[in-house]
Amino acid sequence: MSDSGTRAGSSKAKPLCRALAGERLARPPFWFMRQAGRYLPEYRALRARAGGFLELCLTPELAAEATLQPIRRYGMDGAILFADILLIPHALGQSLDYREGNGPVLAPVRDAAGLAGLDACRVEARLAPVYETVARVADALPGEVALIGFAGAPWTVATYMVEGGGSPDHRHAKRWAYSDPAGFEALMDLLVRATIDYLAGQVRAGAEAVQLFDTWAGSLAAPEFDRWVIRPTARIVAGLRARELEVPIIGFPRGAGLRLADYVRETEVDALGLDTGTPAAWARNALADGVCLQGNLDPQLLVVGGEAMLAEARALRRRLSGGPHIFNLGHGIVPETPPAHVEALSEMLRDEALEA
Ligand code: CP3
Repeated sequence: MSDSGTRAGSSKAKPLCRALAGERLARPPFWFMRQAGRYLPEYRALRARAGGFLELCLTPELAAEATLQPIRRYGMDGAILFADILLIPHALGQSLDYREGNGPVLAPVRDAAGLAGLDACRVEARLAPVYETVARVADALPGEVALIGFAGAPWTVATYMVEGGGSPDHRHAKRWAYSDPAGFEALMDLLVRATIDYLAGQVRAGAEAVQLFDTWAGSLAAPEFDRWVIRPTARIVAGLRARELEVPIIGFPRGAGLRLADYVRETEVDALGLDTGTPAAWARNALADGVCLQGNLDPQLLVVGGEAMLAEARALRRRLSGGPHIFNLGHGIVPETPPAHVEALSEMLRDEALEA
């Protein structure tokens, strides 16, 4: 992490960008994964107006509104682009449908023939509405709020593409990777290149930081973690920097556990998103000095609310107070979360500074 912490570019004054640049702030900035979504009544109304989830993601006016809804209510320091990690498979021409209650359903790609059916040429045109959403949000955001772009990391996106949706064990993706590593590598290479273009497009449109969601990083054995999590992530980080895009990159390798130190060192991300199970005090001590840590309140505490939530949030800020910290959850807000609990937590995070 030698020269990390200096890449916040023109947005250095915003608290979130300062933390990403390595600054320890008396009031750590905050945002929440899945801060837009079904727990908000105004999101449900917008979703109904859009018709479908994909339509919502790909209609800039509506996606910009979904991005801004939680900011208006709660005043977070970061707005995360409203989109989905599966827009890249969709842009590659893989059929994708979001079914109420069942999550995403895709036509599985499991071999060279499936790969040949994908069309990399149309990706940029099909993702153009997302860049327009970014530009609209960048124009509309209050001056102190940073805009965060994102993509799924290649391994996590590949699990959905190969399984045809969510799965408990990613068996088809793993079996393809073990039995035909060169074939699986071709899929991963396609995703790495599309993801660099996609994130570069978001940054050019106004994103001031980007997060790579590797939700299923923790399901891989060690050599495969190196090959399918660390290596593709390092290529994306290097690819963005080679284009001279001054953007801090947040990695979120969920479930990575003992591999977090390797992940930070070898990918050269600027910040690390901690999942719920990672002990925050351990992370502060064990990981590279100066790396910004983001996380990691249990989203279920936001369902419970009250003193249980506030006391643990305060304790978590203290555990991470030895270095740059962006307060967040350990995974996304769940739909059952009462909006009033998000308000109470946001108020505490806005109004209370750490003791010196
Ligand atoms: O507020 C935000 O965080 C920004 C928007 C965002 C969404 N998905 C919106 C969404 C982000 C950053 C994501 C990331 C995402 N999408 C991940 C990685 C993070 C994680 O949660 O682990 C993954 C694995 C996906 C894929 C995905 N999209 C699934 C598995 C599902 C179905 C499960 C569910 O929660 O419904 C989605 C749909 C989805 N993505 C919704 C939202 C608001 C719900 C769709 C609806 O409105 O019905």
